[in-house]
Amino acid sequence: MSVKRGRALRQAAKSGIRIVIVVLKNYSHFVHWPCYSQRRMSKKSRPGKLEFGGRWTSIKLDALEGYLPAYTKIFTKNPAARHFSTMYVDAFAGTGRIAYLPDQQDRLFDERDEYVKGSAARALEVKPEFDRYIFIESNPSRYAALEELKSTYPDKSDRIEVRKEDANLFLKRWCAETDWKIWRAIVLLDPYAMDVPWSTIEALARTQGVDLWWLFPCGAFNRLLTRAAKPPQPWREALTRICGTGAWEERFYEVHTHAGLFGPMQIEQKLSNFTGINQFLRERLESIFVGVAKEPLYLVNSQNTPIFMLFFAASNPKGAATATRIANWIIAHGGN
Ligand SMILES: C[S@@+](CC[C@H](N)C(=O)[O-])C[C@H]1O[C@@H](n2cnc3c(N)ncnc32)[C@H](O)[C@@H]1O
Repeated sequence: MSVKRGRALRQAAKSGIRIVIVVLKNYSHFVHWPCYSQRRMSKKSRPGKLEFGGRWTSIKLDALEGYLPAYTKIFTKNPAARHFSTMYVDAFAGTGRIAYLPDQQDRLFDERDEYVKGSAARALEVKPEFDRYIFIESNPSRYAALEELKSTYPDKSDRIEVRKEDANLFLKRWCAETDWKIWRAIVLLDPYAMDVPWSTIEALARTQGVDLWWLFPCGAFNRLLTRAAKPPQPWREALTRICGTGAWEERFYEVHTHAGLFGPMQIEQKLSNFTGINQFLRERLESIFVGVAKEPLYLVNSQNTPIFMLFFAASNPKGAATATRIANWIIAHGGN
């Protein structure tokens, strides 16, 4: 076989395999969950394992990327909003780029690793631009990568602040110190797990100047809600810290008393499912934010089990209706 023909065949086989993989990976599990079943995979999303998270990472980032320019446009064009300065705050910022770890098929073809842009890099490319960018990252090497990212945007570097500290501590201080007569902000909370206590969410709501995208780890939350009986004490404390109330207990468990051999026995039965968790969290958000998107964006694993729910909430009484309308549209279109 000639070298040219061999190369052409390898190329054709490679694209054929890619098409099959893309179809199988992208469409096989887009069923069941609200705000998910109708979604198309955007051109920007692609299959493969990601350094942070999984396929849902691209979907989440596409949702954010859809919202940011709509937001900055309002604060550039709308006469009632133009006098505000805008800030983008990425509280669990990562590095600005996320590596695709090659899958088996890619390795066959000796493909090099690729990267997708993370939330920080996407925010830096939004037009119209923000007046200020704050990236918070507690991991030293990721913090260093963010500093490097900053240096690749010299035209904006005096507007970018990179902080190496705990996101919750920073946010509470920042909420209290920012002059909300001048500033409006978008905050992205994108933790790996249950790292955000309700007290942080409350601080953001109190500002009346923040629009919040919150990646809620519903998979981890659901695992803490043990099936056989109510969770052990440390888990109960974690659930209460995340929800800001102990009301989850009544909501997610039913207690029956039965006559036992040695007297009455209490049987605790778990009632929760993902729809119940979604409703409970939305009610919690509605109790402190003026506007909350009517559904979160469900992000599921390859077994179609929700791992995260991306909630949107707006704290400004004047802007909340428009903000939630835009977020509802983005969520209903699966993040695109
Ligand atoms: C899911 S990754 C963020 C991905 C990022 N949003 C992106 O799109 O590239 C979560 C990040 O939060 C950082 N992190 C974890 N706990 C933190 C904390 N308490 N404060 C600040 N950063 C934290 C981790 O080091 C990790 O880089």
